[in-house]
Amino acid sequence: MRSIAITNQKGGVAKTTTAVNLGACLAERGRKVLLIDLDPQANLTSWLGFGTESGDARSIYDVLVGETRLDEILRDSKLDRLWVAPSVVELAGAEKHLANEVGRDTVLKKKLEGMAGEYDYLLFDCPPSLGVITINALTAAREVFIPVETKILALNGLVTLTHTIQLVKERLNPSLEITGIIACMYDGRTNLSREVVDKLRQHFGDKVFKTTIRENVRLAECPISELPIHLYAPGSAGARDYESLADEVIESEKTRAYEDR
Ligand SMILES: Nc1ncnc2c1ncn2[C@@H]1O[C@H](COP(=O)(O)OP(=O)(O)O)[C@@H](O)[C@H]1O
Ligand SMILES: [Mg+2]
Repeated sequence: MRSIAITNQKGGVAKTTTAVNLGACLAERGRKVLLIDLDPQANLTSWLGFGTESGDARSIYDVLVGETRLDEILRDSKLDRLWVAPSVVELAGAEKHLANEVGRDTVLKKKLEGMAGEYDYLLFDCPPSLGVITINALTAAREVFIPVETKILALNGLVTLTHTIQLVKERLNPSLEITGIIACMYDGRTNLSREVVDKLRQHFGDKVFKTTIRENVRLAECPISELPIHLYAPGSAGARDYESLADEVIESEKTRAYEDR
């Protein structure tokens, strides 16, 4: 099982879009995938058709601040082999709740114990901050995928992010590794997009996926359909790009072993 935190403290860079569509394409290819929504905005949860109010069902909030086990909150998505651990808006309060807890950074990791055999991939959709919930994801995961918006030159945030990842690695999770940078919202007509991808490659080398995710209006429309892109708009640029990303993720497993969590 690979456990991957999809993280970038900047909002609107395609974390949720990537979690849903990469996860769905991996499931389509026969892999068992669990998507864990760690964002109080709960966009992933509503995208896959689940309610996001606290009255709807138990959620990741109950797992992080209560005695609830992760397997007690899992929901079946409409797709085969794709499951969801839903979030709720109240999750925002979990940051405060956890702030004073002993061992607050390892809560999620502990709750994942015993899950290793059940799935091929755990994908954590992180909130747009480097708060305690994101630290929990970085402590629980083995790997980090960083989606980067290539429409703007904003690589400064990546310095902060990689520094945080390094600190978590040193203090909490020695096996943590950045294994994928995903260039998103790519617009090949502009020099800027190409420049951003060049800079990413200079800095992160072959950690940058060959697949770039092009800007595609179908991807922006997709959440309201409650479907992933390959079902909402088969053959669209967005569908082809996320399918190609899933292929690349699987392909990379032939040449390197990703350790189990
Ligand atoms: N490749 C893309 N082309 C066009 N719109 C996109 C693309 N990727 C994401 N979006 C849109 O950009 C916005 C932010 O994406 P989202 O995945 O919610 O980011 P995050 O989870 O990082 O905040 C959403 O409205 C989403 O539909
Ligand atoms: Mg999001």
